[in-house]
Amino acid sequence: MMNWKKFVESEENLMSIYFDEQSRIFYLESKDTTYAFGVNPLGILEHLYFGKRVGRDLAFRTYSEKGGAHSVVLWDEDKKHYDLAVVPQEIHTPYRGDYYEPSIILEFANGNRRSDLIYESHEIFAEKPQLEGLPSLRHGETLAVTLRSKTAKVILYYTVSETCAIIARSMKVVNEGEEDLRIDRAYSFAFSLPNRQWQAMYLAGAAGAEAHVRKTSLDRGVFTIDSKRGISSASMNPFMAIGLPETSENRGPAYGVNIIYSGSHSITAERIPSGLVRVSGGLNAFDFSWKLEQGESFQTPEVVLAYSEDGYSGMSREFHNIYREALIPKRFVHKPRPVIINHWEATRFIYTLDRLRSIVEQVAGRGIDTFVLDDGWFGVREDETSGLGDWFVNEEKLGGPLQSLIDYTHSLGMRFGLWFEPEMINRNSELYRAHPDWAIQTPDDYAEEARRQLVLDLTREDVRDYLVETVNGIIRSHKIDYVKWDCNRDLSEGYSLALPKDRQKELFHRYYLGLYDLFRRIVEANPDVIFEGCSSGGSRFDAGVLYYFPQIWTSDQTDAPARAKIQYGTSFCYPMSAMSCHVTASPNRRAKHLTTLHSRYDIAAMGPLGYELDTTKMTEEELAEIPLQIAAFKEDEEMVFTGDTYRLHSPFGDSNYFAMQSVSADKKKSRVTVMKLQENFNEPEIRVYPQGLDPDTVYEVAELGRTMEGRSWMNFGFRPKVAAGDYETKVFRFIAK
Ligand code: GLA
Repeated sequence: MMNWKKFVESEENLMSIYFDEQSRIFYLESKDTTYAFGVNPLGILEHLYFGKRVGRDLAFRTYSEKGGAHSVVLWDEDKKHYDLAVVPQEIHTPYRGDYYEPSIILEFANGNRRSDLIYESHEIFAEKPQLEGLPSLRHGETLAVTLRSKTAKVILYYTVSETCAIIARSMKVVNEGEEDLRIDRAYSFAFSLPNRQWQAMYLAGAAGAEAHVRKTSLDRGVFTIDSKRGISSASMNPFMAIGLPETSENRGPAYGVNIIYSGSHSITAERIPSGLVRVSGGLNAFDFSWKLEQGESFQTPEVVLAYSEDGYSGMSREFHNIYREALIPKRFVHKPRPVIINHWEATRFIYTLDRLRSIVEQVAGRGIDTFVLDDGWFGVREDETSGLGDWFVNEEKLGGPLQSLIDYTHSLGMRFGLWFEPEMINRNSELYRAHPDWAIQTPDDYAEEARRQLVLDLTREDVRDYLVETVNGIIRSHKIDYVKWDCNRDLSEGYSLALPKDRQKELFHRYYLGLYDLFRRIVEANPDVIFEGCSSGGSRFDAGVLYYFPQIWTSDQTDAPARAKIQYGTSFCYPMSAMSCHVTASPNRRAKHLTTLHSRYDIAAMGPLGYELDTTKMTEEELAEIPLQIAAFKEDEEMVFTGDTYRLHSPFGDSNYFAMQSVSADKKKSRVTVMKLQENFNEPEIRVYPQGLDPDTVYEVAELGRTMEGRSWMNFGFRPKVAAGDYETKVFRFIAK
């Protein structure tokens, strides 16, 4: 049950939500933006408009007097004809003439799968409590529109931000009948764009190659980005942007869709014969089905819709702003993050306390403030084949008590972080030997392993209780300051021993209800601990995780040029403060690229910073660079994490350059980071045009030895003159005079 606090009745219109009684049109007005839909003469919620702010004077489309061949025809009292395959709607239902992607499929007790969903009432709430059991924006004026079809009540929720050009949508289905209702699809939103040459941008990739920016034109047919992996996935992030051919990073209309959810998802853009593009999505409908018993309700995840006429960078800033304002835990969002030393790339699984001490002591007093002990400290864990689930310290392997390393770290003035992968279990573990039925598995088959591990069945309360107790126990008894929460595989099997036969198709969603319960109970019990999400890097880099954890390990790919791409792509939807980035060794472990320490730092300094390399192999000169880097990072941290982000040169394009910029909220400071991807002889001249500066303010850029007005920097630009060599970077700081 969602705990919505009722504030006022619909008669009273609040700031951002306006209902015109006469025309029966709703106007949702977020910053500079209007989202409009109305109750048409058939009682159907007709989508009218989403885009730049317009007047409260819109009208419904007019429909023809007679139906076309083949169309199912609905008539209103004025004998106007409606073909639901043509009418843009807020929620699309099948078997009534609408032959395109449905938003919802309900099956009533007698097998009837047609639902009419007619407007019944609406309410406006000034305050929005969270969706129970699911992450969502934490506040914002909210409209709830109730529709009905027979015994099913369907409530569409719209949360409107006044400060950001954002509308958040979700849906709840309530079974008010006496018999069971089955939900075979429950998307969170639908809206339609007019017949123009829309293109979709999306983030596709794989573990280690996350968030690669792709583009496709939306021609006739269905274009879907999705994950059926039971995890939001690096394969396709739950994000889609839509723009016109002329939409650039800084100009033109750009829409964004992002699902606040960490499991299987889909976002669909479908161009129908009339040329309209219907956009919809939410929970992935593949093999999804949910039984709703009498009186029960089902809440979908929330989807965030953004609009900007300042291009894709403008759209991204709307997401960054709303996520920092209303999603990411407030107590961390405006605070400096720990600067980390992690040993994983240096040692992998094989280490002792002495080895770890030697890594830490090299950097002690150089500005790094947190040591993170990664995988391998618990159970029997020499490699990935064993130990997951056994969350007790392996003193024999470590060569002493964990506390001695923690005390040592503290004595150096540093804090201590610990790695967990709570959702997983190895067959070779004490936990599995004691509770083999706790793993997700079918009754008949050998459950498939990934990274030699199985997934714990988080639909089970006893499993969650065990994890809460053990993880919280270790955090508390060792006074842990930081937790890296990993998840190194997708779901498989699609069966839970804990669910009855007629609820098996609920597993993938129930898993996330369980996981969010776990996140909540562990985070709430440790309010001062910083949690970092991780999933073999960025395989679960999503807004669902960011509701609980302020940052996520962006990728296991730490090669600077590859990371530049991944961070560039990730910034389409997620703020820089969410992207954990580390300086690692050169040549890179995976890519074998040789890069300078300063280039690796320049790219890592775009998000919460860490170092992850064998510090005992660093030279004195390299070690001496660390405090200087951290001092520079601290100078810029607030600007990068709370200011505006601009993407200036795409590493996915053919410019051979990557450039991104941060501008402080007060526009007094800015930083442009440039990387040259490849050294070319006699390359054409490159210019960088910063954005977002105050045109009237004079900025000095020491790296260029030049002082100019903001308008000059933005229009005249500058040549970055990056040093010779592949993957070389240069950073430019703009300081208001
Ligand atoms: C994942 C993470 C890595 C590291 C390993 C440990 O791959 O992304 O950073 O923590 O697990 O097994």
